[in-house]
Amino acid sequence: MSETLSGIYTRLAGEGRIDPDPAQLAVLPELERIREALEAQPEKRGGLRGLFAKTPNAEKGLYLWGGVGRGKSMLMDLFFAAVDIEHKRRVHFHAFMQEVQAALHEARKTGVDDAILPVARDIAQSLRLLCFDEMQITDIADAMIVGRLFEYLFSHGVTVVTTSNRVPDDLYKDGLNRQLFVPFIDQLKSHLVVWELASPTDYRQQKLTGMPSYFSPANAEARATLDTLWRDMTAGTGVERLTLKIKGRDVEIPAFANGVARATFYDLCAQPLGPADYLALAEAVRVLILEDIPRLSSENYNEAKRFVTLIDALYEGRVRLIASAADVPDKLYIEGEGTFEFERTSSRLIEMQGADWAKEAA
Ligand SMILES: Nc1ncnc2c1ncn2[C@@H]1O[C@H](COP(=O)(O)OP(=O)(O)OP(=O)(O)O)[C@@H](O)[C@H]1O
Ligand SMILES: [Mg+2]
Repeated sequence: MSETLSGIYTRLAGEGRIDPDPAQLAVLPELERIREALEAQPEKRGGLRGLFAKTPNAEKGLYLWGGVGRGKSMLMDLFFAAVDIEHKRRVHFHAFMQEVQAALHEARKTGVDDAILPVARDIAQSLRLLCFDEMQITDIADAMIVGRLFEYLFSHGVTVVTTSNRVPDDLYKDGLNRQLFVPFIDQLKSHLVVWELASPTDYRQQKLTGMPSYFSPANAEARATLDTLWRDMTAGTGVERLTLKIKGRDVEIPAFANGVARATFYDLCAQPLGPADYLALAEAVRVLILEDIPRLSSENYNEAKRFVTLIDALYEGRVRLIASAADVPDKLYIEGEGTFEFERTSSRLIEMQGADWAKEAA
């Protein structure tokens, strides 16, 4: 018989790879229930035979919510890796909804009356388990379709396991036309067991506390250290691109995994990005690894200005910044127009290196 999730967890704790946490242990039987049910069900069949086969009732899923860094994603990944079935998928919720919107767009082009139906059918046909990281709904276009989309998925044998920072009742809080969204909350509550991961420990913060987060100069050694930090923070999760949709434009963040984004100064400050883009970025990530900040001056005034805006957005959003730079903050910008404004940036960069600097629960 394969090792139970509690067994795996206890073994990892015994090996010193994780700290044993009663709140984390307490949710494992719930995940084990889902695993056992899924492993006991027959696999879905593709093709025509699959289309007409009777759909098994989906096992109740899990909505695991709680404050940042409590280990929700870690537990979901442990579960996902252990579930021994073929038709499973783990995806960042934001990325999933972007795929759905793109598929709807394609379906509408073919002139179907109801675009959601073929899109939902495609998803349900090939999946029995759908794991989402970071369910949150901020976009009205998403809010208006999730109800019908998930109704189809739930009634066609798809079990959903998701993490979130919010309790279901607070999803799309204060959103436009929220009354149209409320039925989705009821569906979540009836198809998923809602569980708060009430651990007192923010493990992400614990890991980063006392660890240097600003490296200068930006040499090979700094790069190797950032590589190690990145691997450590994203271990076991797939790296995705993060596409932020801002006023109809797409802003691409080259690497994103488990709340951590990684980009170079060039990616973020040498492109025509503005305050709205940086705010959206700060909203979407917990940690930003920003590499290769150069010396700034009137020569690269536009880049410098964007950098100031970026740091302001990260500061407001209490995002953890890990950076490599040509020099220490107060020597990054020492001549030319903008020196005065940069003083605030430099002071913020120093404050953001502090041990207690981190994102509060959403
Ligand atoms: N019991 C533990 N012992 C040691 N490290 C842990 C433990 N639980 C989680 N971690 C680590 O702490 C970090 C944060 O955990 P994780 O990403 O799972 O949190 P989260 O609840 O998903 O946070 P968020 O809400 O920000 O997405 C990860 O690097 C994870 O591997
Ligand atoms: Mg998470």
